[in-house]
Amino acid sequence: MERMKGKVALVTGGAGGIGSGISRRMAAEGAIVLVADILLDEAQKIAADIGNGASAIRFDAYDERSITAMVATVLERHGQLHVLVNNVADTSLTTFDGNVLETDLATFDKSVASNLRSIFIATKAALPHLIESKGAIVNIASGSAIGGDTWLTAYSAAKAGLLSLTRNTAVQFGKLGVRCNSICPGFIAHGKAKEMMPDTLRSVLDVSFVTRNGEPEDIAALATFLASDEAAFINGENVVCDGGHSVGTTPWRTGAVNAA
Ligand SMILES: NC(=O)c1ccc[n+]([C@@H]2O[C@H](COP(=O)([O-])OP(=O)(O)OC[C@H]3O[C@@H](n4cnc5c(N)ncnc54)[C@H](O)[C@@H]3O)[C@@H](O)[C@H]2O)c1
Repeated sequence: MERMKGKVALVTGGAGGIGSGISRRMAAEGAIVLVADILLDEAQKIAADIGNGASAIRFDAYDERSITAMVATVLERHGQLHVLVNNVADTSLTTFDGNVLETDLATFDKSVASNLRSIFIATKAALPHLIESKGAIVNIASGSAIGGDTWLTAYSAAKAGLLSLTRNTAVQFGKLGVRCNSICPGFIAHGKAKEMMPDTLRSVLDVSFVTRNGEPEDIAALATFLASDEAAFINGENVVCDGGHSVGTTPWRTGAVNAA
């Protein structure tokens, strides 16, 4: 399939587990991908690996000027932008992100800054170019955005805000040809974390309604579809991609079902 042929796609957090998967898949389907991340070396390695004219951009999601410069760099290099994948999140914050009483204000502010504010800035900077190209935005939120959780208060609140930003962008700019959709991934292990947490993987699988754990490729396939013209009639939608985890009403029984 070459659903992304001729499209210029900017993937933020593109050096990470899911972001590199999305970058790879979009390039494989013909996109020229800009892999944007704070880790320039990693982003460069991924860009070199996926080829098809891909290149890397360093940016810092905490820095407004750096975000607008990232979008400007895409335009300098390619003169157009068709797809913005807002995938970045400072996942290192999750260690400090507990329940409401445990989470300090600095963590809350940083989570909102990196996981929501940065995406507002990137969207604002990219929109004029996406209106021109009749492009698409895909926001990577989280299953945490939908329900309540025993921890990750700041992360969940920021990601819930991202779902709202998605719907507002869709409604405000759909008539101008820009679609904006979001994805709520379930637990997606990748890299070293995957090897280090077999117990977590097993317990996640126990409360999922599929036969395996989620992979970055699962999110990449969905993001590529939503960004492509095949999804031309889908706007303002959020798609949960979690192996059925969130639709189960009797999770305490699923272990037995999955083990059968
Ligand atoms: N992995 C999961 O289980 C899961 C589940 C639900 C949602 N998500 C969401 O998917 C997206 C990707 O997650 P992931 O698991 O690939 O995480 P990851 O940590 O592997 O990737 C995040 C990337 O963002 C970059 N980054 C962090 N801070 C930055 C900053 N200040 N400026 C620029 N870049 C910065 C990192 O260098 C990294 O490459 C995130 O939005 C995350 O919230 C992940």
